[in-house]
Amino acid sequence: MFIENFKVDSPNVKYTESEIHSLYNYETTELVHENKNGTYQWTVKPKTVKYEFKTDVHVPKLGVMLVGWGGNNGSTLTGGVIANREGISWATKDKVQQANYFGSLTQASSIRVGSFNGEEIYAPFKSLLPMVNPDDIVFGGWDISKMNLADAMARARVFDIDLQKQLRPYMENMVPLPGIYDPDFIAANQGARANNVIKGTKKEQVQQIIKDMREFKEKNKVDKVVVLWTANTERYSNVIVGLNDTVENLFASLEKNEAEISPSTLYAIACILENIPFINGSPQNTFVPGLIDLAIQRNSLIGGDDFKSGQTKMKSVLVDFLVGAGIKPTSIVSYNHLGNNDGMNLSAPQTFRSKEISKSNVVDDMVASNGILYEPGEHPDHVVVIKYVPYVGDSKRAMDEYTSEIFMGGTNTIVLHNTCEDSLLAAPIILDLVLLAELSTRIQLKAETEGKFHSFHPVATILSYLSKAPLVPPGTPVVNALSKQRAMLENIMRACVGLAPENNMILEYK
Ligand code: NAI
Repeated sequence: MFIENFKVDSPNVKYTESEIHSLYNYETTELVHENKNGTYQWTVKPKTVKYEFKTDVHVPKLGVMLVGWGGNNGSTLTGGVIANREGISWATKDKVQQANYFGSLTQASSIRVGSFNGEEIYAPFKSLLPMVNPDDIVFGGWDISKMNLADAMARARVFDIDLQKQLRPYMENMVPLPGIYDPDFIAANQGARANNVIKGTKKEQVQQIIKDMREFKEKNKVDKVVVLWTANTERYSNVIVGLNDTVENLFASLEKNEAEISPSTLYAIACILENIPFINGSPQNTFVPGLIDLAIQRNSLIGGDDFKSGQTKMKSVLVDFLVGAGIKPTSIVSYNHLGNNDGMNLSAPQTFRSKEISKSNVVDDMVASNGILYEPGEHPDHVVVIKYVPYVGDSKRAMDEYTSEIFMGGTNTIVLHNTCEDSLLAAPIILDLVLLAELSTRIQLKAETEGKFHSFHPVATILSYLSKAPLVPPGTPVVNALSKQRAMLENIMRACVGLAPENNMILEYK
């Protein structure tokens, strides 16, 4: 059965006009080991830590500024939200289609809240905590191409034509602000669309971005802004001691107009200085060490990297399943071909390299979790190929072959073929990223050993379900397995309303 919403009735939870306050027992473990004649003996001690959570229930009017607003993702997301807000339906060759938010974890998935008369009861994911309604988001942003969003939607060739016609009047007057363009960081083939660029030194460009964000906030009367990079994949920037390794060196390099500071890092600097959350949806290393330190110093949320939309998402499910089932993947080979502008940009070796890196580490945690299957340091062969094929447009093809060793030396080969409009996968993920980033800035927590409440660490691991290469604070484990990432997010939100983690034990019926 499905219910629309619920309230928790518990001595551990207090709902007031301004906040939800919860007391929470975090059940965890403490590990100790002893070296006994060369072999380690491990002891696991269960441990309970008392936490308090405070969630501000005031849902702000939210502005979202996209870097790369006029791209396939930017125009698809903007059009999709308008279609939902306006209740637009359109004729396809099959049926009359209603706008929806399918593919969005927050808007279209559910959580289990318990059993009632022998039936499992589910509620919308978004009913856990007060969240911004995506229909109310005001969109804006930058693009190095001047094209208005209606034309950009047509250029993207993602939406059905009847839908495009209905959306056009809403999108014609949306024109991206000039963006920071540096041809050294994206493929040379992007030069032709760069007709809307900010001039000046890197420092002046950062100042312009700050001015843009302030004006956007003022003009649209929004309470909060979140910025998200959905522009082209950049090449990796070199991390160099003295250049971008510390906050001081990063600012000194900005003063000196150093060539190696990428546009994405410049946007991120502007956001952190304004305490505006910045999320990186592409694979490049925007978050150089000096920038991460700046975000930590200023307690300003950063998250990324690279949307986990298709092939990698499947990988982080399938390999988790295989390794969890005691089967040993030994070779994972992934081919992609796509014909959108991102595909064209990725046809240059330097930008492809960024994608290759972000796709490569996705199975590490799963492999490392099973020392029965893998020797220390052993890893399956893992190869990723991406080719640009203009004809297929945004309809990306992903073909994967997983070969595994099974019982008694047997071999199992699984082949997947996935065809899907790339932007229709990415747009709901962008939505979740901005909604969850906004929500996480309204949550405060405190362990019993801590004197006062604090926000989550500014490096937002809470967004890792949506990221191909989750950015984590230094010294923090990276979790790629999709089910664990989802459980982490759901369980933290449950903790905020005093509910225990979902344990799937159903002891009531045992
Ligand atoms: P796109 O090429 O259609 O859009 C990117 C837009 O960014 C273009 O309009 C371009 O003019 C603009 N741009 C480039 N550099 C800029 C800058 N410095 N400042 C402002 N604007 C700039 O690409 P698409 O398909 O929308 O993808 C966007 C990004 O999302 C790519 O980096 C892609 O790798 C990443 N991504 C997409 C996924 C998907 O499923 N669609 C999945 C994972 C990541």
